[in-house]
Amino acid sequence: MDAAALRRRFYSIRALREAARARLPRMVFDMVDGAAGDEITMRRNEAALAEIEFVPKLLSGAARRDQTVELLGVKLPSPIIVGPTGLAGLLWPHAEIATARAAARFGTIYTTSHASTSTIEEIGAASSGPKWMQVFLFKDRGVTAEFAERAKAAGYRGLVLTVDNQVTAGRDRDLKNNMAFPLRLTARNALDLLSRPGWLWRMRRTPLPTAVNYGERMKIGAFGALMAEQLDPAVCWRDVEWLRGIWEGPLVIKGLLHPDEAVGAQQRGADAIVVSNHGGRQLDGAIASIAALPAVVEAVGDKLPVLIDGGFRRGIDVLKALALGARAVLLGRPHLWGVACAGEDGAYWALDLFRREIDRAMALGGWDTLQALDRHVLSLPPLPFSADCRAKGRRD
Ligand SMILES: Cc1cc2nc3c(=O)[nH]c(=O)nc-3n(C[C@H](O)[C@H](O)[C@H](O)COP(=O)(O)O)c2cc1C
Repeated sequence: MDAAALRRRFYSIRALREAARARLPRMVFDMVDGAAGDEITMRRNEAALAEIEFVPKLLSGAARRDQTVELLGVKLPSPIIVGPTGLAGLLWPHAEIATARAAARFGTIYTTSHASTSTIEEIGAASSGPKWMQVFLFKDRGVTAEFAERAKAAGYRGLVLTVDNQVTAGRDRDLKNNMAFPLRLTARNALDLLSRPGWLWRMRRTPLPTAVNYGERMKIGAFGALMAEQLDPAVCWRDVEWLRGIWEGPLVIKGLLHPDEAVGAQQRGADAIVVSNHGGRQLDGAIASIAALPAVVEAVGDKLPVLIDGGFRRGIDVLKALALGARAVLLGRPHLWGVACAGEDGAYWALDLFRREIDRAMALGGWDTLQALDRHVLSLPPLPFSADCRAKGRRD
């Protein structure tokens, strides 16, 4: 699909979401769109971004805008990265490969989820762009070590350790839809799948997507059962130190919200951190990512790059995070909606929408480079953005 057709049909990330809703079976759309509990944190991610306003300076002559940024040795064309999202193969045949190729074409980093439906090696071979691999610290640390070794052998540059996944999440929409992985066919689910013939047609030649990285281990049961067995609520800093010891490349810790933990990550040798609540998919009621950002930046922002994700749907959202000190933004649902609508072109388009919107906003705000963005370009709501609200707690 060419850019003009994409722009006509999918003129914004929200339009892509609506188009994905129309294309995907309900249980698959909800698996992506939904979040934990009452979805308060998911809604807050977007609402808190909307509460921040710009105070533009209009006559500063931003004739040419430069939105490139350097991150851990990679020059990004725009301050956005593809974040890890598992089970994407339910949306489009071989969705991870399509999205990794889109990211490479765009010039940004692609993060493979531990639960990708193409293997670490297949994704590694399919795209020549910079890639990171996401892992958990499992009860069987050998599984984590094996993922890291495989990622290294497959040419991944960075390892992303997600730390906000100590147990499987309670997501009401998935429970209501009887969502299981691999898909479990019931009469109701079958009706749901049949209601989307276009999706069925596209998926007809694809083997039932599964979390292929686990190979034989998946045979012990469904994905949920494997995760319930392996996720480890006892994970602590010692385990982070262990992972740091076995991984020589850049280590990124994803899922931190507390400034003290950002300091802890920096002290243990993390090369970057991602301020994240997993898109509201883990602890419902957790602080919105953008609201947690200022205190984290204040604590460690001069020592390592601070990244962020959660609720970013517009170019202006990205600029707000950068003005508050983030180096770049990871995207979750936006690229999934893109790939669900138009495969590789759709994933690319989702990234390009952000790039176009960032450029337009930089022109309208009078900012010719990203360095021109700081807190002074923003009008912030009094709380929780002021540093005074920084959560107080133990250091470790
Ligand atoms: C369908 C889906 C699957 C996800 N799978 C993973 C995963 O395997 N590992 C991980 O660290 N984060 C995972 N995430 C969380 C994202 O990396 C990211 O933190 C979150 O989606 C950002 O919020 P946003 O969707 O509002 O952009 C997933 C998110 C979604 C929507």
